[in-house]
Amino acid sequence: MKAIEIKKDVFWIGAVDFNKRNFHGYSRSPQGTTYNSFLIKDEKNVIFDTVDHEYEGTMLSRLSKVIEAEKVNYIVINHAEKDHVGSLEKLVQVCRPEKIYASVVGKKFIEAQFDTKGWPQIEAVKSGDVLNIGKRNIHFIDTKMLHWPDSMASFIPEDKLLITNDSFGQNIASSERFASAFDKETLLKSMKEYYYNIILPFSPLVLKVLDKLEEIALDIDMIAPDHGLIWDGADNVRFVLDAYRELATQKTQEKALILFETMWHSTESIANAIASGLEIENVPFKIMNIASCHHSEIMTELADCGAVIVGCPTHNNGIMPYTAATLTYMKGLRPQNRIGVAYGSYGWSGEAPKALHMLLTEMNMEMPFEPIKTVFCPKEEEIAKAKDLGREIAKALKEKCSK
Ligand code: FEO
Repeated sequence: MKAIEIKKDVFWIGAVDFNKRNFHGYSRSPQGTTYNSFLIKDEKNVIFDTVDHEYEGTMLSRLSKVIEAEKVNYIVINHAEKDHVGSLEKLVQVCRPEKIYASVVGKKFIEAQFDTKGWPQIEAVKSGDVLNIGKRNIHFIDTKMLHWPDSMASFIPEDKLLITNDSFGQNIASSERFASAFDKETLLKSMKEYYYNIILPFSPLVLKVLDKLEEIALDIDMIAPDHGLIWDGADNVRFVLDAYRELATQKTQEKALILFETMWHSTESIANAIASGLEIENVPFKIMNIASCHHSEIMTELADCGAVIVGCPTHNNGIMPYTAATLTYMKGLRPQNRIGVAYGSYGWSGEAPKALHMLLTEMNMEMPFEPIKTVFCPKEEEIAKAKDLGREIAKALKEKCSK
């Protein structure tokens, strides 16, 4: 396993997990993932973040191709989630560094996860602190809640390099290291998938961090996140900063996401009728069966949709289980600027559409329409009503997008 020099005396010493599909237990990573870790060789040799525990041997193998492990002086932990500190204990044992640097919360999180008796000093740093390592200076930038309270970034102006932990990451597993090897459409899709499942709740803070980064943007020509490809070159740096701003702004998109769960296809037929209405009004849509699509796949689709139309049958006086799970997940991710609509078929009690309506309301969605519900199989006039609803949703969505 070799180290890859990404800038003069700056090396990638991470690991690629081509087969990871369950990312952190809640999100899918259909293209695998990458745990990025970096080494800067200077008067003081510094490692930035580590890799998942499973890959500590890979990381040490790459490190050994550049310097002997005992020559590592400092370890900077930009983020103390297990995928980035998973090999820290091993690294401390093998390298015996002089110091570990982390944010104030990062230090607490490291101490909460490891028995640090006998470890080198863990020094807490904050925005504005600068660590000189010889020819270079590491400027620490607080990125709190992006996406954990401990998150920070490290900026090395001499290399025009910003190391960002999870921010600007994507779940791409590849033998390529740089974004320039990929087309922008693929990059954007992977970024949306990552953002909408991990970063989305913190969008207001993302905008603040982006404002802060704009002050130094001209001095950055490489952004190195802890997952996926490294954004190389001024063009890619601009692309990722702009894409993040767009994702964080959550401007209403003129596309509808129709979600349904169904027992005997009645709720599904309402979904299809609503879709017909949208089609008449030339509003694009996507229909997803909640029982067969993973909740993280649904969230990724939501990135492009300004309306969320959710239906399910009434089950035990409430909503169906996959729908409940998906909406709980969606609510936690706090999507904004959406229109919500509820519908569903029922047999004898019919509580689900109202319950769905309430759930979408709690998500701060605009709810311009009363939920529609049908008893058992929707009749011709009910299908017509659902189609009309689709047309009305399309008009409301167009109006919202035009504001
Ligand atoms: Fe990639 Fe929040 O860990």
